[in-house]
Amino acid sequence: MPRLLTLSRAARLVGTSRVALQLKIRSGELPSFDGMVSADDLLRLYPDIRLEEDGGFEQVREIKERAFGRRVRERLLPSQEILSQRLYEQSTELADLRSHLQRYHAMMEALRSRIREQENKPGMAALGAFLDGQLAEILGAAEAPNALSVMDDMLRVMSAHVTLHPSGHDFFVEGADTLLEAALRAGLAVSYGCSNGNCGLCKARVVSGEVRKVRPHDYVLSEAEKSQGYTLLCAHAAVGDLVLEALETGSAGDIPPQQIVARIKAVEALGEGVRLLHLQTPRNNRLRFLAGQSATLTAGDTSAQLPIASCPCDDRNLHFHIERNPNDDFARQVFDVLRAGDAVTVFGPWGDFVLRADSPRPILFVASEAGFAPVKGLIEHAMSLDRAELLHLYWHTQRPAGHYLANLCRSWAGALDNFRYTACDEGGAADLVGRMARDHADLAAFDVYAAGPGSFVQEMDAALQRNRFPASQLRLEIV
Ligand code: FES
Repeated sequence: MPRLLTLSRAARLVGTSRVALQLKIRSGELPSFDGMVSADDLLRLYPDIRLEEDGGFEQVREIKERAFGRRVRERLLPSQEILSQRLYEQSTELADLRSHLQRYHAMMEALRSRIREQENKPGMAALGAFLDGQLAEILGAAEAPNALSVMDDMLRVMSAHVTLHPSGHDFFVEGADTLLEAALRAGLAVSYGCSNGNCGLCKARVVSGEVRKVRPHDYVLSEAEKSQGYTLLCAHAAVGDLVLEALETGSAGDIPPQQIVARIKAVEALGEGVRLLHLQTPRNNRLRFLAGQSATLTAGDTSAQLPIASCPCDDRNLHFHIERNPNDDFARQVFDVLRAGDAVTVFGPWGDFVLRADSPRPILFVASEAGFAPVKGLIEHAMSLDRAELLHLYWHTQRPAGHYLANLCRSWAGALDNFRYTACDEGGAADLVGRMARDHADLAAFDVYAAGPGSFVQEMDAALQRNRFPASQLRLEIV
């Protein structure tokens, strides 16, 4: 029976992305068994895995972090308690193996002495010689340790692998993350409310594996819930690999509005006339939203509803892109008054410009001018989901410095095999649809997400209709 690994674990072990492995499965280079791959097939495809190169999966993580704007995330070791529990489990497994081997050894010795006692009987001498020869061969072969197995054991100590039922989505819990933090980092829209142990909305059932409380919580699970294995995702971490039964948000309508007071982490120039307003929510009170949605921001006596330019996978960070506009009070506040540390009230989320998580189709993202903000959130979400399908971004602007995050888009294209970036600075929405149709002969095979000023979005809608593009595969957002 070959040792089977999930795609996520296999990708980490050989230092590549899930996307790269999915492409190899599709091309037939890597056999797959119910979505899993065998360690032997992996070693055949990646024969150069070395323990000293254990930075393999770190490399992929770094690419993603670079792609996410070089924000360095806090990465801690799991708590001592969890580490020692994982080491204890590995040691128990090792002790079992050792005692098993000792029993085999004793059996082999008994067999050899029995054969020697009966050497005079026909065939026994030959059988003894065969056994001695085989044992000499096995014991004499100085086999190198299987790098993949050793790395897998190390990985099991440093992180735990979680599979969600019924969706089959999976993710890793690393460092001091709770199950909720790890799931959101992986781009999964699990159900939750307060994120600090009060509401019970993050309840999930442990199907197999063990969890440990790492944060205090006031919500009390009933005795019946406890006996059925329910746990709170926001207050627990995984001791080892886990299977959980958990609710995942299907649509924007499932998320109630919330009001949170966040602090400004930074106000940065993104280019000529555009500022990044970077907010951070309190440690114990995240904003629950789906990538692509908007929120209402209030600072002093000015307010504005703005698309969120980051994704829920980006921890407690909320990004907004603000264009200079002398007629917009909130924009004037951001450009002239607000500073790091100031409070901003966030109310939302709003809108349904969100990814169709269950669609298997490749995606064309179209951003016009500041329509890039919600599209950026969607792209980061798609990246965190490790989708293998093509993601192609067209960013249209008629302002000279309108591609204010062009370097970020180029870094995405450089880091990810399945991402393409096209900057457009001529023509209108209809010309852009013509270009998309030339780039992708079968336009109807894609989902299209387009955001921008009203006139651009309406023209794009009309042009796609003339191309008989299926309306159900189109999502539009006026910014
Ligand atoms: S999200 Fe409220 S208790 Fe976990």
